[in-house]
Amino acid sequence: MTRPYFLLSVALVGLLWLIYKSWKKNRRLSNIPVVGGSGFMLSYMDAFRFFTHGEEMIQEGYTKYYPNVFRVPTWREWRIIVTSDLHIEEMKRAPEDHLSFTVAISELTAAPYTLGKTILTNPYHHAFIHTQLTHSESFNRIIPDIYDEIITAFLEKLPPAKNWKSYKIHDLAWEVVVRVSNRVFVGLPICRDPEYIKVVTNFTMATGLSARIIELFPDPLKGMVSAILVNLSGSTKLAAKHIRPIVEMRRRQTARFGRNSPANSKDMLSFLMDKAPPDEQTIEDYARRILSVNFGSAHGIAMLLIHALLELASHPEYIEPIRQECEEAINTYGWSKRALNHASKLDSFLSETLRFGGVGTGAVSMFRTSVQDYMFSDGTKIPKGTSISVAQRARHLDGKIYPNAKEFQGFRLSNSAEDKKRCLSIPTTSTDFLAFGHGKHACLGRFFAAVVVNAIMIHVLFNYDLKAGRPPKHWWFEQFLFTDEHVELQFKGRQNKSVSVSQSLI
Ligand code: HEM
Repeated sequence: MTRPYFLLSVALVGLLWLIYKSWKKNRRLSNIPVVGGSGFMLSYMDAFRFFTHGEEMIQEGYTKYYPNVFRVPTWREWRIIVTSDLHIEEMKRAPEDHLSFTVAISELTAAPYTLGKTILTNPYHHAFIHTQLTHSESFNRIIPDIYDEIITAFLEKLPPAKNWKSYKIHDLAWEVVVRVSNRVFVGLPICRDPEYIKVVTNFTMATGLSARIIELFPDPLKGMVSAILVNLSGSTKLAAKHIRPIVEMRRRQTARFGRNSPANSKDMLSFLMDKAPPDEQTIEDYARRILSVNFGSAHGIAMLLIHALLELASHPEYIEPIRQECEEAINTYGWSKRALNHASKLDSFLSETLRFGGVGTGAVSMFRTSVQDYMFSDGTKIPKGTSISVAQRARHLDGKIYPNAKEFQGFRLSNSAEDKKRCLSIPTTSTDFLAFGHGKHACLGRFFAAVVVNAIMIHVLFNYDLKAGRPPKHWWFEQFLFTDEHVELQFKGRQNKSVSVSQSLI
């Protein structure tokens, strides 16, 4: 059979399987209101509409059915959307053997095919994020490295020029974010190697979209489809090529001088070498895990950075006040976590970018799958095997929660005492601020993300003036927001800086 006919047959079998599953599930969910039609044909037409209008359909359901739950049709399944504080709090408290985060994320990312079988079943690397990328003391140790990488990356990619020059902000942000994160994950010199950066970036970008396509197919066909779309083993081999010399050198040093050998750095690679279970100690195993962590981290950080720079350029009135406050903080505390804690205007601006922009997981957050029949306290029954999430964006744009919610107000969260209470700083989650999820599975890397984006923003503010070009054309696929890859910003080297690079590295 030729390749197009093979793919067509696979798609047809997949489609029939999905129709059968969805029909069965629809009968069990009949008590939950629907956006669009619930009949067989109508729900498929609406599932088709969901591809391009998913965000609007979720907004429509929120407006119609708040404070109750509702459902939207997708090609694969019915997705339950939760709207109110009560339901969010109950989801937050539900144990893993009722509403499972792991099962939901495994389905959403097609993890066994795209990221590897053990990334979710044994997330031993979480301990690294928790100990090294969460607390102020650890940040004070790594911030000089982070800042060093920012300076080097910007000097190479965006040398301060006397005249305005346009840059594709998507490419610039990804390059800087991958370099800076990998300075902490694998260290120098790998984090600057163009081939390594390319492998990580391509893998991270391709995996998200491939997962969306693989998700459309029934389980028995996913292996075949992923073999065509994702090249996990190829990317792993390439990343392994780069980390091999470092791993071998560190192994030799450890054999000679013990675990406290000077060659053993505090990066994530060293952590993996130290803590990996016995059946995951090959260089390919480390490489696969590093790629997976990049997948979880680079998207969110790059997206937040891109949206924040675009907002800043289109609202230039925020530039001076934020710049001034950051200069005072760095002049007083040097380049440290303490200085970042004092940059509350920047913090508010970034939180507002997350709230307003749909950055992160887009229209919904807190993905869960019911692994047994579950009932909310208002009597809403969720049958086993159902996907549930929270209408994050609709809540973020709800005027009852945020006055003038459809307006970008950069200092919204540093102005009023009430708003400050709601969101003390970017990493604070609540039922009203869901960009990082909420509860025990709230994003583990949000403190690191906040430090990296703050640091890059401060560097840009100190060293460049920036100007908006044409407005961005971001686009939605299902509930996910994709950033305009072509939008450009103009930059010019800044004259009369009051904080110099060396000063800021105290
Ligand atoms: C702006 C950047 C980021 C955004 C918007 C973001 C968003 C999220 C969201 C929405 C969740 C799911 C929470 C839930 O369902 O309740 C999550 C989970 C997670 N994120 Fe992030 N993330 C970001 C950056 C990062 C970074 C930099 C890392 C790693 C260094 C990371 C690691 C994780 C991990 C490990 C989890 C799973 C937590 C668990 O298993 O309990 N994230 N993130």
